[in-house]
Amino acid sequence: MEFKDLKQQYKRLQVSIDNKIAEVISSANFISGEEVTVFEQMLAEYVEVKHCISCGNGTDAISIALMALGVGNGDAVFVPDFTFFSSGECPAAVGATPVFVDVQRDTYNMDPQLLESTIKRVKKEGKLKPQAVIAVDLFGLPAEYRRIRSICDKYGLLLLEDGAQGFGGRIGKKKSCSFGDISTTSFFPAKPLGCYGDGGAIFTNDDRIANLCRSLAVHGKNADNKYDNIRIGMNSRLDTIQAAVLIPKFEAFKEYELEAVNRVADRYTDLLEDVDRLCLPVVPEGFYSSWAQYTVCLPSGVERDDVQRYMKIAGVPTMAYYRKPMHKQGAFINTESATADCLVTEELCERVLCLPIHPYLKQEEIETVVKRLKEALNLNEKG
Ligand SMILES: Cc1ncc(COP(=O)(O)O)c(C=O)c1O
Repeated sequence: MEFKDLKQQYKRLQVSIDNKIAEVISSANFISGEEVTVFEQMLAEYVEVKHCISCGNGTDAISIALMALGVGNGDAVFVPDFTFFSSGECPAAVGATPVFVDVQRDTYNMDPQLLESTIKRVKKEGKLKPQAVIAVDLFGLPAEYRRIRSICDKYGLLLLEDGAQGFGGRIGKKKSCSFGDISTTSFFPAKPLGCYGDGGAIFTNDDRIANLCRSLAVHGKNADNKYDNIRIGMNSRLDTIQAAVLIPKFEAFKEYELEAVNRVADRYTDLLEDVDRLCLPVVPEGFYSSWAQYTVCLPSGVERDDVQRYMKIAGVPTMAYYRKPMHKQGAFINTESATADCLVTEELCERVLCLPIHPYLKQEEIETVVKRLKEALNLNEKG
């Protein structure tokens, strides 16, 4: 059994993917080819945002977005403590200070109430200027944007949605990657919509910000002359072969993969609901997840590690995303960012376990995962 079965997906889409790649190779338009523009338009239309700017990966997407928003030295950027490193790395890379905020125990996403109290604390301390919030759609579930947006408005902060894991999610009819003043995603192969290498994209309705992002992603180029460099940028482009892979993958994602992965998650929830020693992932009313991960929470760290070991021996791959809170990452030791008070994140890092999930996971495989998980818990309970 695979944790993410990309080989199965390729088998299903092989003819269209191979043909698309072959077209790019014979056209020799490897950089900024037509497929890149077509893919950007498809995505902007799907997300219902005016501009989609593709780039090299989801990390660059966040850095470019922060640069376009003018975030830098002396600024505080509020980031959930429970996330992948990039969400905090990028504000630090542009010279700002990530200030970590604890998450909700049931959704794993940024706690809006704690966001507000953290903003108040930073304002009171007066060392940094509160400037932006990076909300993360962790494991595919959109963050609580209604509340987060109203806090951003109240304190005059910019909102960046890190939708690296969230593409395809929604709240009501509004899609992930449309909630921020600027939003980003990643096409890392294991993401809900992944390519065959690195890739990322930025979304915004703001024409000025979109132009800035296009410039920043290509060495700070002038709009109509790439050899006239008017600002310091970077070299971050989605290459044409990746766009060509993403076009048929995106069709499959819209047509059936997103629904299929939701059926897998529902089945896990049905089969695990009665296991009272497990906390299951919560999807609040009106929210829809793209299930980048199906993450359960075990009673303790010891049990999590025992269960993971048992399942590995039984042939079921699992992952523990994440084992370390952001504020405890070595890169932030002895910085202002290390001072966070995030007890829920600390606990989750000990207790979470991600089960295999992807659109091609079969009923029998789901049942095997559940059976092995229950066995592991029983063994553990008996000591
Ligand atoms: C929440 C989050 N943000 C950002 C990224 C960075 O994306 P990439 O790996 O494409 O740079 C990831 C990737 O794992 C992620 O999970």
